[in-house]
Amino acid sequence: MGIVEVAVEGRVATMTLNRPDVLNAFNTEVLQALLGELHTVGHRDDVGAVILTGSGEKAFAAGADIREMKEKTPTEARAFAELGQMVTSALERIPQPVIAAVNGFALGGGCEIALACDIRICSETARFGQPEINLGIIPGWGGSQRLVRLCGLGFARELIYTGRMVGAQEALEWGLANAVYPQAELMPKVREMAEVIASKSGIMIHYAKTCMNRALDQDLAGGLRLEADMFGLAFSTEDQTEGMEAFLAKRPALFKHR
Ligand code: COA
Repeated sequence: MGIVEVAVEGRVATMTLNRPDVLNAFNTEVLQALLGELHTVGHRDDVGAVILTGSGEKAFAAGADIREMKEKTPTEARAFAELGQMVTSALERIPQPVIAAVNGFALGGGCEIALACDIRICSETARFGQPEINLGIIPGWGGSQRLVRLCGLGFARELIYTGRMVGAQEALEWGLANAVYPQAELMPKVREMAEVIASKSGIMIHYAKTCMNRALDQDLAGGLRLEADMFGLAFSTEDQTEGMEAFLAKRPALFKHR
């Protein structure tokens, strides 16, 4: 078993963080492996959606590996933050949507990785948090930025200043989780959603993802211009012709992702 397991079924790739003994904590090796797998999957046009989850019953990921981190010099710690940020950026940049199936603890870097995914679905046992403050550090893989953007300043400040954990129901109320299911139903439900997404035009999903990612990075006028450009570009594809012809012929569209 690799440290990050990848299984492709139909048009859905499932990536499983595989260090259950340490609750799937991220060391350099895991970050590099995950980065490599995201790069590979990002170039596969036969994959239309990605699921990211943790092995075992207890954790999605309990954060950066504290044992490895403890001895780092400031320069090494900065490089470690940048490596984690390369992974979060890769999650946002690959063409396919990534669904985090949060099957337990998503703490520190685990929460930050989940925050960089397109959608978070969690089990009733999930616990989110940014407990870095308890270790005498701060979040380093985007927690201070993406938690603010997703849930607002007030909630982000409270979580990052107190280091407290948030249960599944509270995560749902704050929009941190999109949905909550009993543990046994988590993967079937996530897979169902991934298959729906993967059945759409992969090109249009990529365009939509690109536009929405940019929504938080630039002013409204710039975002609207990008949307209009991508909307125009959609009309250069076979999938646009197929989608509209299928609607008018009252039959399901069969997208070819081109
Ligand atoms: N880094 C390294 N090892 C970790 C880890 C992390 N982030 N999180 C858990 N582990 C290890 C534990 O050291 C333990 O190893 P051991 O069996 O060799 O002692 C093993 O995983 C199981 O964890 P344990 O703490 O015994 O489980 P628990 O059920 O009592 O507690 C947590 C679960 C998640 C509450 C607890 O492990 C925890 O607080 N982890 C750290 C979370 C954190 O601060 N993350 C942010 C890092 S920036």
